[in-house]
Amino acid sequence: MARNASRSGLYAGAVRVLFIGDIVGKPGRRGLAAAMPELRERCSPDLVIANGENAAGGLGITEKTANEIFAAGVDAITTGNHVYRHRDAYGFLDECERIVRPANYPAANPGRGRTIVEAAGRRVGIVNLSGALQLRVARSPFVEADTQLDRLADQGAEVVIVDFHAEVTSEKVAMGWHLDGRVAACLGTHTHVPTADARVLPGGTAFVSDVGMTGARNSVLGVRVEQALESFRTQMPIRFTTADDDVWLQSVCVEVAESGLATSIEQVMVEAAPGAGQR
Ligand SMILES: [Fe+2]
Ligand SMILES: [Fe+2]
Repeated sequence: MARNASRSGLYAGAVRVLFIGDIVGKPGRRGLAAAMPELRERCSPDLVIANGENAAGGLGITEKTANEIFAAGVDAITTGNHVYRHRDAYGFLDECERIVRPANYPAANPGRGRTIVEAAGRRVGIVNLSGALQLRVARSPFVEADTQLDRLADQGAEVVIVDFHAEVTSEKVAMGWHLDGRVAACLGTHTHVPTADARVLPGGTAFVSDVGMTGARNSVLGVRVEQALESFRTQMPIRFTTADDDVWLQSVCVEVAESGLATSIEQVMVEAAPGAGQR
């Protein structure tokens, strides 16, 4: 009901946000394109955000792969620790206003940590932050979150979505509480494994520790099973390639009220094998 209500204008100012977990390599990009029609039907999103840090060959993002993701219907792309893997993308990261990298990286690094897009007539701020545990950052994500929210307020953002790209669940859960009541959603990425804790926190912030990934389910986080197993078994350097078997798209759909706070978060996972869209 609520899904259609916002579309019919019963809830003026509501924004439906679809957030898609880390897109892994070509299978992930193809799966995204194949699954978008079904996702649009199920979620009726006003805004589609996807994490693209693994979009190019499983690690990093390029202008070409970012444009492929945009062409599939994604409005804005977040990233994470693999964002700088491809040097030829640095200029693109500086220029493209619809892609963000963690805000708590060194300030002079290519790209921006936040952006504002318009959706359903609202100014939606998107912030990317990296966890500090088991990942390298220049500043605490908690302090940086406060800084970014202040700047977005100055820029007139009415709704804020945070992608917290982090490894450790305690840090992710803590960030949810840190931001509760101040942003529409704090959505975890990076682990590629969706967690079962999606909910709206008491203050009105939609939260999930990890959204998951868009890539091959018959894999180890997107990497071919036999290669990952060999790496664990032998502890020798192994060249990883992207798996392509049994591609799924893992996402969450967040309904944001006029207040700028969330009324619901729903996990949406669809089989998205290449060609699925043609079936
Ligand atoms: Fe990732
Ligand atoms: Fe990551």
